[in-house]
Amino acid sequence: MDGYAFTDAVVVTPRKIRGSASLLVEGGKVAGFGLGAKRELRIGSGSYVYPALVNVHDHLRGNYLPRVGPAPGSFYPNWSPWDADLKASPVYAERASLSVAQMYLLGGYKNLFSGVATVHDHFPHELNEPFLDSLPIRAVRDYCLAHECSSFDLKWGEGIEIEHGRAVERNWPFVTHLEEGFDEESMDGVGILERAGALDDRDLLIHCIGFSDDDIKKVKRAGASVAWCPASNYFMFNLTCKVRKLLRAGVNVALGTDSTHTGSVNLLAEMKFARAAYRRIYGEELPAKSLFEMATVNAARALGLTGKAGILEPGAWADIAVFRARAEDPYESLAAADCADLELLTVEGVPVYGDEAKYGAFFGELAGEAISGYGRIEVGGRQMFVKGDPAGLYRDIRKAVGFDKKLDYLPFEA
Ligand SMILES: [Fe+2]
Repeated sequence: MDGYAFTDAVVVTPRKIRGSASLLVEGGKVAGFGLGAKRELRIGSGSYVYPALVNVHDHLRGNYLPRVGPAPGSFYPNWSPWDADLKASPVYAERASLSVAQMYLLGGYKNLFSGVATVHDHFPHELNEPFLDSLPIRAVRDYCLAHECSSFDLKWGEGIEIEHGRAVERNWPFVTHLEEGFDEESMDGVGILERAGALDDRDLLIHCIGFSDDDIKKVKRAGASVAWCPASNYFMFNLTCKVRKLLRAGVNVALGTDSTHTGSVNLLAEMKFARAAYRRIYGEELPAKSLFEMATVNAARALGLTGKAGILEPGAWADIAVFRARAEDPYESLAAADCADLELLTVEGVPVYGDEAKYGAFFGELAGEAISGYGRIEVGGRQMFVKGDPAGLYRDIRKAVGFDKKLDYLPFEA
């Protein structure tokens, strides 16, 4: 399924907006602009073509609903009591009726239906490796990790020094939750990394709600990235990180959903939540273009994927998300989009989801047959093809739990 061009398209990237462009895809990559191809599909002005989104922080096996949080009117001091509450909750018991493989697929589809082609599953390799190949989108494989940097963390990986050292050696990101809480130890997260010789530009630091101004300076100087997950932060702690100070300091901030056990339904919802939170806290608007960068290039940089993901430039993966145009400004249009606006998602040029009427025949002809290995679902009144069988998955899950479970990130009825 290769060697094709989308013509007369508005192609939106964090660097520029190209009008009436022809975007050529070859070998799973963006080959260039303004070039013709044997097979062409006209997109027109009713839709905008974006790089597929990058979700910088998720836990794919944790995407079950409803959320589990603190008692009404109270909030957690750090993530640890949440973990205890989750594991004692009826939701967690219900989730146990599902296989881990099913949980991973749910996490994959949650991301797919929001236009995400690349996700980071923050979880130990030995526990997620068996499931990542089955996902309908890409999960980042190359990373080193810790769970958190505290004496009470979950001991993922081989310890900060070894994991970080390996990240440097292999040029991979070192990913950890950091300062997700307000006890003395949680708020010393940057200090712990510093003393371990592990504070540098390999680091992807998640949450960072306890950061002091001094922490922000150190993180900026080190060149580390921060994953901002405001929906999860507000749900658990009733606040989020000092995002405006981070941005003004020039720290690379990327947007993540976290799992739906605490976070938002998907990355499109997270973008809306982030914007509303910013407006509420600072009384000013976070530009839609900044949000777009946080969900594309900034996330790619944090994950060591600069030039590959989150951008449509020659040599990048042809991970393409086409959304229905909702506003004249394409950045505003995406910031307002929901699942029903997603018309097409490709991973390395291969469609994983798309509007049957607009794209079915085109990709079917490219493949030389009616496209196979795809299920059919109805989303927002449109027939969509989708890689795999999410409708069957939904039915199996309902059977396993014994009732018509509703999972808000699946935008269709089983
Ligand atoms: Fe997390």
